[in-house]
Amino acid sequence: MKIVSVVGTRPNLVKIAPLCQSFDHQQGRAWQHVLVHTGQHYDDALSGAFFRDLQIPPPDIQLNTGSGSHAEQTARIMQAIEPVLCRERPDWVIVPGDVNSTLAATLVAVKLSMKVAHLEAGLRSFDRRMPEEINRVLTDSVADLLLTPSADADDNLAREGIPPERIRRVGNIMVDTLVRHLDRARQSAILTRLGLETQGYCYVTLHRPSNVDDPATLGRIMDSLSDLSQQLPVIFPLHPRTRTRLEQPPMTPAATARLRLLPPVGYLDSIQLLDSARFVVTDSGGLQEESTFLGIPCLTLRDNTERPVTLTEGTNRLTRPEWLARDLATLLNQPPKRGIPPEYWDGNTADRIVRVLLER
Ligand code: UD1
Repeated sequence: MKIVSVVGTRPNLVKIAPLCQSFDHQQGRAWQHVLVHTGQHYDDALSGAFFRDLQIPPPDIQLNTGSGSHAEQTARIMQAIEPVLCRERPDWVIVPGDVNSTLAATLVAVKLSMKVAHLEAGLRSFDRRMPEEINRVLTDSVADLLLTPSADADDNLAREGIPPERIRRVGNIMVDTLVRHLDRARQSAILTRLGLETQGYCYVTLHRPSNVDDPATLGRIMDSLSDLSQQLPVIFPLHPRTRTRLEQPPMTPAATARLRLLPPVGYLDSIQLLDSARFVVTDSGGLQEESTFLGIPCLTLRDNTERPVTLTEGTNRLTRPEWLARDLATLLNQPPKRGIPPEYWDGNTADRIVRVLLER
């Protein structure tokens, strides 16, 4: 069996890492895995550092497509990946997540009559303003095998008329990565380096266009975080999109003066920062799940989430820029929300995926 997996961005790497390991155990048994990197993320901090931290073998094929508008990026990835898939002729193409690389690779593969397995299928925010929602709906509508993390994802797909034989619930692959690397993450020196105490700071990550692209929205968020930093250090590694926005007028250096702004951190440092935080403020999908698994209170700066189990069973709560100051005060003054890890968040998802592929 020949499998081509396609990754492009930081969260894709967290999702593919355990599968690379499981496929590696099968290598030589009539099983070949080819890893393709589209180059959607290319900075070492967003890509190379994650390969090293997660011990992912270097990509077999690098497409180096880079940044651009959605149309440019998607089109460039499609053009670059078509000859690769024609040459490799895989039995399965695996696409994780919901980024532009996911959709671009899917469209090319299905038109070449190749079988596509979507990893993390069925998640829905029901918010079509999000580019990721478009990527999810379109990928799921044409992929052959929909590997879902949770029961709500199965229900979403059933509602869209997808036949049950295309859907397999395998669990949350990010949790596999977390379980495998938690001990190493807890040895990270980042707390000492930053002079932080366990439970003595707030960890922040923000990169969604809906939070960072509009200066008025971003300014409002920064004001609330700045007020919080008078009571608790605020540790905020900056995604390149966010850094660019913060450096543009009308943002002023005063807006960020009191925050501890850092370059993007690697996977192990991020998990250590999360695991030891008093709470986290984020708009990342991955951090909503990781905080639920680790039992760290999480405020998600979004109107909705495609990961509802983190709200119903986990430690997550949604907030908005105009509510942030109030919700931060509540978190500081009230006992935190407790949660339990949802079903199938057990670290065995990659093995279940391998079994499903072997069955088929
Ligand atoms: C992408 C995904 C988003 C995911 C996020 C994780 C889409 C539509 N969005 O958003 O779902 O949550 O990755 O980080 O696929 N840039 C760099 N260095 C890089 C990559 C990008 O500086 O290595 C800058 C460029 O200026 C680029 C901007 O960041 O224009 C945005 O990058 P892009 O890949 O378009 O989207 P993300 O915001 O990273």
